[in-house]
Amino acid sequence: MEKNYLEKIRETAGFIREKVGELPHIAVILGTGLGDLVNHIEITNELDYHVIPNFPVSTVEGHSGRLIFGNLGGKYIMAMQGRFHYYEGYDMKEVTFPVRVMRELGVETLFVSNAAGGMNKEFRVGDVMVITDHINLFPENPLRGKNYDELGPRFPAMTEAYCNAMIHMADDIAREQDIRLMHGVYVGTPGPTFETPAEYEYFRVIGGDAVGMSTVPEVIVANHAGMRVFGVSVITDLGGKDIKEVPTHEEVQKAAIKAQPVMTGVIKEMLARL
Ligand code: HPA
Repeated sequence: MEKNYLEKIRETAGFIREKVGELPHIAVILGTGLGDLVNHIEITNELDYHVIPNFPVSTVEGHSGRLIFGNLGGKYIMAMQGRFHYYEGYDMKEVTFPVRVMRELGVETLFVSNAAGGMNKEFRVGDVMVITDHINLFPENPLRGKNYDELGPRFPAMTEAYCNAMIHMADDIAREQDIRLMHGVYVGTPGPTFETPAEYEYFRVIGGDAVGMSTVPEVIVANHAGMRVFGVSVITDLGGKDIKEVPTHEEVQKAAIKAQPVMTGVIKEMLARL
């Protein structure tokens, strides 16, 4: 008989537990903009996605796929290098499967990062934005379908999807280190198209500050599972009706790489203070 979702999560967690031994309580999803963080981790173990049972395999250019275990900022963590995007064709259960496995392994705190287009008129390319809230515009919710009460409640609250205490901690660090750290609402869209000028405008009018193609599914599942979440976006391009520049994947990558030291610095210091 085909394994159900719960059995798959447990099988995958069991495999990782056996391979890795000690397990962390903190996980980081390294999106565009936090890739460099890997170079700061004292790696003790790593597993390619393709050896992990039930794991999807990452395909998109600029992302490789492995789970990393090691020390960063004096804390033992696990990191996902490469995530699964809805636009690649994975369904919402696949996109969020790694978060389920993390929780099963005992992770309580999740850091997520991404690249995003800025609609907020105060934003500049290269800014780092702490995600204070999100708007889910994916066509499907990852919690749709049968609810496993072992994983979380049928109707989870999303009132503090991004942990306020962690946002304050990031602000303290930014103030101490004189870092320009923006705040904003992340709009999650399916992609893979970048927005039309009218769409950027629409997302701004409904309360968005930045838009991207990831993060929201993982954050919904992390909240369902009772994890606390901290999220950051690198603003890699700007959109709106007065903006003429055309965003490209290359430009997004370039802007993200430039902002990496700030992202890495803040996350490392947050880990040290946790
Ligand atoms: N829109 C959607 N996703 C993005 C963008 C954008 O402008 N920039 C980086 N990821």
